[in-house]
Amino acid sequence: MVQYRRVSEHTFTTIFEPFRIHSVEPLRMTTLDERRSALAGAGFNLFKIHAGDVLIDLLTDSGTGAMSRDQWAALQHGDESYAGSPSYFLFHDAVTDLFPFSHVIPTHQGRAAERILFSVIGGPGKIVPNNTHFDTTRANVEFTGAQALDLVIQEARDPSSSHPFKGNMDIAALERLLAERADDVPVVFVTVTNNSGGGQPVSLENLREVRRVADAHGKPVFLDACRFAENAWFIRTREPGQGARSVPEIVREMAGLADGMTMSAKKDPMGNIGGWLAMNDDDLARQCRDLLILTEGFPTYGGLAGRDLEALAQGLTEVVDHDYLRYRIRSTEYVGQSLLEAGIPVVQPIGGHAVYIDARALLPHVDPLEYPGQSLAVALFEAGGIRTCEIGTVMFGRQPDGSEQAASLDLVRLAIPRRTYTQSHMDYVIEVCRHVAARADALPGYRIVEEPPTLRHFTATFAPIA
Ligand code: F0G
Repeated sequence: MVQYRRVSEHTFTTIFEPFRIHSVEPLRMTTLDERRSALAGAGFNLFKIHAGDVLIDLLTDSGTGAMSRDQWAALQHGDESYAGSPSYFLFHDAVTDLFPFSHVIPTHQGRAAERILFSVIGGPGKIVPNNTHFDTTRANVEFTGAQALDLVIQEARDPSSSHPFKGNMDIAALERLLAERADDVPVVFVTVTNNSGGGQPVSLENLREVRRVADAHGKPVFLDACRFAENAWFIRTREPGQGARSVPEIVREMAGLADGMTMSAKKDPMGNIGGWLAMNDDDLARQCRDLLILTEGFPTYGGLAGRDLEALAQGLTEVVDHDYLRYRIRSTEYVGQSLLEAGIPVVQPIGGHAVYIDARALLPHVDPLEYPGQSLAVALFEAGGIRTCEIGTVMFGRQPDGSEQAASLDLVRLAIPRRTYTQSHMDYVIEVCRHVAARADALPGYRIVEEPPTLRHFTATFAPIA
C-alpha cells in the first residue's frame, strides 16, 4: 500500500516551498562578453550552450528537478537483479496505485515508450489524433509513416483566451475524424497537461467526452501523462465539484478513463531519467514487450537501473502531495502574473510547469519566418544568462514535405524545474525579462544557417539578420 502525506490546511498567502535545502549546487555568474561569445560559439542555438555558462536554466522541466532526501535514500535500496528485481515491483505498485493498468513496461524515457507503442500501432495510412502532440510524440508517429493530427479546442490557439482548460480536445473535431476515418485511427491520445499548447490542463469532463466518442468507435484512449499531477491539481482547483477530492483520487479517475499511457518520468514523477508504457490490452502489451527487449532491456527494468525505479516509486508519492502542488502551481503563476503586470504578453491562464511568452506579440517587427521566439530566447540568455526554449516556427515550421510554414504561435517557454530554484531566482528571472522586453523593438530576426532533416531545433545553427 502506497503511503501519501496527509492533506494539510493552508491559510497564509506567501508562496511557501514545502521543503528546505539539504545540499546546494553553485551557480556561476558570467559577464556579458562571456555570454556573447558563448552564443556565437553555439550558433545562437541555446541547446548548444555549455550548461556551466547558464545562470538560471529554464530550458526544460524534464529530468532537471531536485530529488528529495527520501528519493536519494531510495536509490540505496536499488536491487540490480537483471530479472524480477524487487525494485521493479515497488515501482509497479507505485505506478498502478495511481494508474491501475494491467501492464506496466518501464522505459528509459518518454520517447522510448512512444517509439515502441507507435512501432506497433502506427504505420503508413494511420492517423493519430491528440490534443497537441509534443515534438517527440509527433516525430515518433511520423517516423512510422503515420500522420499526427492536433485537435485541441480553438481557444488554445488564442494566447489571451482565459479558458480554464485550454488543453481540452475539440470533441466535435474528434467526432468528425472518427466518423470519416475510424479504420485508420489506432488510438486517441490526450496529453496532460498540454505542453506544446502552453502547459494547459484537460478537464475531467473533456476526458469523459473523449472516452464517449472513442467508445462509440471502439477506439482505445491513451494518456501522454508526463504532467498528470499538475493537471489533476488544476482539475481540483478549477473544475466544478472537484475541490474536495484528493489529487490521487482525481488521477485515478483520469487513468480510469483511458486504456493506457505513455510517460516521461522526468517530469511529475520527479526522476532525472525514466519513463513507462502502460496498458490494459494483453496482446498489445506482448508486442510492446518484444520490442522493449530488442532496444531497451528486460521487461522488469526496461532501460533503467533498479535504483532509478526506486527513486521514481518514491517520487510518485511526493508529486501528488497537495502542499507541493499548491506551491508548484502558485510559483509558476507568480512568474507569469509578474510578467503580465510588466506588460509582457504571456499565454493565459498561466500553465503548470512553464510560463510561455508570446514572442510574436512582443516582437511584432520580426516576421514569423525570421523566428521571433529564437530572437527573444537569445536575448534572455545574452542579458541575464537565462536559458529558455523557443516553441514556435523553429520547432514546428518545417513540414514533412520539406516546405516551411509559420507555426500557429511563436512562444518562448520558461520551463521551471521542480523544487530546484527559489523564489528569489524567480524574481531575478522576472527582472531580466522586464529588462529585455523594454528593449524588444531593437531585437533582430534570425535566419537558419544549417539544419538537420528532423527535430531541427536541437541542432540547427542561426545567424542574426542585420
Ligand atoms: N510528451 C510530453 C508532453 C513531453 O513534454 C515530453 C518531453 C515527452 C512526451 C517526451 O519525453 O523527454 O522523456 O523522452 N518533454 C520535454 C520538454 C523534453 O522539455 O518539454 P522524454
